[in-house]
Amino acid sequence: MFPLSWEMIMKKYTNIYDISNIPEIIQEAIHLKKNPFAHENLGKHKTLVMLFFNASLRTRLSTEKAAKNLGMQVMILNVNDTWNLEFEDGTVMNFNTTEHVKEAAQVISQYADIIAIRAFPSLTNKEKDASEWILNRFTKHATVPIINMESATMHPLQALADAITIEELKTIKKPKVVLTWAPHPKALPQAVANSFVEMMENIDVDFCITHPKGYELNPEITLETQINYNQAEALKDADFVYAKNWSSYSNYGEILSQDANWMLTQEKIKTAKFMHCLPVRRNVVVEDAVLDSNNSIVIQQANNRTYAAQIVLKKILENL
Ligand code: CP
Repeated sequence: MFPLSWEMIMKKYTNIYDISNIPEIIQEAIHLKKNPFAHENLGKHKTLVMLFFNASLRTRLSTEKAAKNLGMQVMILNVNDTWNLEFEDGTVMNFNTTEHVKEAAQVISQYADIIAIRAFPSLTNKEKDASEWILNRFTKHATVPIINMESATMHPLQALADAITIEELKTIKKPKVVLTWAPHPKALPQAVANSFVEMMENIDVDFCITHPKGYELNPEITLETQINYNQAEALKDADFVYAKNWSSYSNYGEILSQDANWMLTQEKIKTAKFMHCLPVRRNVVVEDAVLDSNNSIVIQQANNRTYAAQIVLKKILENL
């Protein structure tokens, strides 16, 4: 049996700092992956309710699979299929919201032992997005633990899966990992990049970020991480290249560049392993030749979403 340290008990998972010992949880997730049904009774008679304010393929299926591997029952609600929820306090609800989050969160808590939520940012109201408006309103009024399945600013389940993947596939003790911005036709959130940066700051890697000027992430997240505006220089000798688009943080939510020169190509990444959280737009973010090569580890990365979710659910279940 894998040793369970006292510090590893988890009450919620809304950002990576809810993990008290990141290297230890990565190792335990890798161990769990070898025998995913080892704790198939831990979640017996426990229910995970997953609330989706936004679309998902991987998060939805991998989290459901993880919960079922632990013997949990799973209920999924696409929030857009139900009543329009009100999040402001004191509102006269005589317009288009029908149910307040105060009632909704308490009611759902009676049906669930754990609630998982996906709620993207507006990308128009920086202050409200930074406050994690939806996630925190549910956290405040729910009476059961909350898991973040990608919120306005963070995607901690993705970051844990990314760290598991790097740990599994690294061939040297301290690999060079580069997060590179890549072009995209739509304005996308910073959440994946933010959580990946936080994760890389907390594991043993040589990490840098490359993006065009104007795409600096929140400096409270990037801290002392090296930022190189020259992609070619940044990618030199990389072991892992993680491509992701995000919209501007300073010019909040804006697309400042769609420069195709930032697309990842086989020539650029050379022998590095290519990572992306998916979904990915082929020949916009990255060329076919990379995704179709042995350099690409995006499928393994997506598989590890299950074990990231499973270790988090396991830790929370152990604390119920
Ligand atoms: N990477 C990720 O979160 O995928 P989905 O948006 O499909 O869940």
